[in-house]
Amino acid sequence: MHILIINGPNLNLLGSREPSIYGNKSYKDLEKYLHECAQSLAITIEIHQSNLEGIIIDLLHYAKHKNFQAVILNAAAYSHYSYAIYDAIKAINLPVINVHLTDPSNRSEAFRKVDVLKAASLKTFKGEGFESYKKALIYCKKEVKA
Ligand code: DQA
Repeated sequence: MHILIINGPNLNLLGSREPSIYGNKSYKDLEKYLHECAQSLAITIEIHQSNLEGIIIDLLHYAKHKNFQAVILNAAAYSHYSYAIYDAIKAINLPVINVHLTDPSNRSEAFRKVDVLKAASLKTFKGEGFESYKKALIYCKKEVKA
């Protein structure tokens, strides 16, 4: 099974970005963790991070063209308002698992209460830090056809 993992804006700053919310672990630590999880599940992964909406959309198209079986997507703040990413998820006809480190619905800002990508995604895992991604990988392994 081959899975594309896409991380959106500001996730490259993990570790220094609002550590009281996102913790002290860096983006490199997240990548290492994901490679270890994937290896233990016998899944192959490719990981990308972009701060740009159009690049995230291009990466979703790339997942289809390169025959990945699923996508794990943390679109970060774009999750709350990007209908273009919503349409891209619908367009590629691949299972997309929506993940968040935090639980945006429990955070103070009103704009985080809405996740427009949830309805286009097969499943959402949130609020468990790096573990949200691990749960998404395990879910793919169990539920997505290789
Ligand atoms: C996030 C939650 C979003 O609300 C926020 O804009 C992010 C990260 C998360 O992983 O918890 O940048 O997607």
